Amino acid sequence: MIELAPSILSADFAHLADQVQAAVQGGGTVLRVDVLDGQFVPNITIGPPVVASLRKSTEVPMDVHLMIENPDQYIPEFISAGADWVSVHQEACRHLNRTLNLIRSHGAQVGVVLNPATPVETLSEVLDIVDYVLVMSVNPGFGGQKFIPNSLNKIRKLAEIRGARGLEYRIEVDGGIALDTVASVVRAGAEILVAGNAVFGKGNPTTNAQALLKAAMEATLQKV
Ligand code: DX5
Repeated sequence: MIELAPSILSADFAHLADQVQAAVQGGGTVLRVDVLDGQFVPNITIGPPVVASLRKSTEVPMDVHLMIENPDQYIPEFISAGADWVSVHQEACRHLNRTLNLIRSHGAQVGVVLNPATPVETLSEVLDIVDYVLVMSVNPGFGGQKFIPNSLNKIRKLAEIRGARGLEYRIEVDGGIALDTVASVVRAGAEILVAGNAVFGKGNPTTNAQALLKAAMEATLQKV
C-alpha cells in the first residue's frame, strides 16, 4: 500500500492547521513532523507542544522523525503529545536496540532512519524489531534539496532483505520526492512517501498531493 506523508517542514507555519487539512484532502494519510535540534542536524524546528496542538487538528497518524541527539530523553514526551509513529537515526543512537524498544514500550510504531552515507547493513540486528525503515534521500536538515539517486539501491536492498528474511517492516523514503522522482522510488520498493516542498512549496497543497499520489499509483501499475 502506497501512502503519502506530507512533511510540514515546508508548510506555512502561520497557517499550519489549514495547510495540514489541505494536504490530507489531497490524499495525505500520514502527517510527517520533522524534529530538528540544531545539533544532530544544522537546523532547529519544533518540540512536543506543537505535536500536541497538531494532534487536535488532524485525525491522521503523526509520523515524528527525530533528527536529534539523545532521543531517549524525549521519546516518551513526543508519544504522550500525540506521536503515533516515532523514528530515530541509527547514527544518533549508541544503544539502538534499547531506543527502539523504548518507542515500542510507549505504544508507538517503531522506525529507524539511515542517512545517505550509512549502509543498510548497519541495521541487520534491528530489522526484526522495527515497523518501518526510513531511507533519507537527502542529507537531513532542510526541505527543497535534490534527490540522491543512490537511495534507490538502498530501497531495493531493504526490499530484498525483507523478502529473504521474511520480515514485515515497511520502507519509507524522504527527501526530494517530487513528480520527477516519485515513480523511481515506488518501482524500487518504497511504500511511504514523505514530501515537503512538492506538497507545500508552491501552489495548492491539495492538488499537489493528488498529482504526486497519482504518479505514485501509476508507477505501481508499471511495476506489476
Ligand atoms: C529534511 C526532512 C524532510 C524534508 C523533505 O531533513 O527530513 O522531511 O522536509 O522535504 P522535501 O520533500 O522538500 O525534500
